[in-house]
Amino acid sequence: MTDGVAALLRWYVEQGVDETIGEEPIDRFAAPAPAETASVSPVTPATRAPTPLRAPPPPSPPRAPVPLESPQLVEDARALAESCATLSELEAAIRAFEGCALKRTAKNTVFADGTPGAPVMIVGEAPGADEDRLGKPFVGVSGQLMDRMMASIGLARDGGFYITNILFWRPPGNRTPTTTEQGMCLAFTRRHIELARPKILVLAGGVSVKAVLDTTEGITRLRGKWTGYTLGDGTVIPTMPTFHPAYLLRTPASKRQSWQDMLAIDKKLKELG
Ligand code: URA
Repeated sequence: MTDGVAALLRWYVEQGVDETIGEEPIDRFAAPAPAETASVSPVTPATRAPTPLRAPPPPSPPRAPVPLESPQLVEDARALAESCATLSELEAAIRAFEGCALKRTAKNTVFADGTPGAPVMIVGEAPGADEDRLGKPFVGVSGQLMDRMMASIGLARDGGFYITNILFWRPPGNRTPTTTEQGMCLAFTRRHIELARPKILVLAGGVSVKAVLDTTEGITRLRGKWTGYTLGDGTVIPTMPTFHPAYLLRTPASKRQSWQDMLAIDKKLKELG
């Protein structure tokens, strides 16, 4: 590989292009192709009418670009989320939602996995490459660790817990989502929690904790301490901030603290009956 090609590939990776999705590039910002004009039946010279001298139609005005960063988009997402009365309506609305730029580069919408209505709902951060490919949250290595942690207190996706993320689309190259992208997804996530109504909410990782609890406190200070997430009707859901499994894979010494969090969740579940 020449130095030039290697430098170009490095540049792509730095810009967030870290995998090939298709054979041909798609310019999603390009205006749609003009609609085909109605088909014209062939005319012979004998039947051809004289060409009328008419001015060509004025060029159509350029389409206003859709602003990708706007509080209105967050409001729209919130209104749409509020209009959903069931989890399946919410899922359909999110899958059909075109307002979030993250969707343009993602392969799949990653909504949720596990059992809707399960006693525990886990909210993580964002789909990674594996989740994007398979369209399910927490299916990569950190998801496998999450499954083992939950299994240690007898909870499995099948009946024991329901799992999602604050983002429904993988940010390209795992970049930080913009405020608007995060705000739109969070509007859906809040409705998601509302409709799932778990007995216990588990927030995995600092990004999820900060977003859902709307706090600037770091995960190290908050983890392991029960707090409450208040639903629209005033119901307070006991909420446990805990380390993200990806962090635990990098920092195995912290698994001891996460084990304490699991025991606390188990105890609370038993108390709640
Ligand atoms: N990390 C997350 O926060 N969520 C996933 O779905 C996968 C990895």
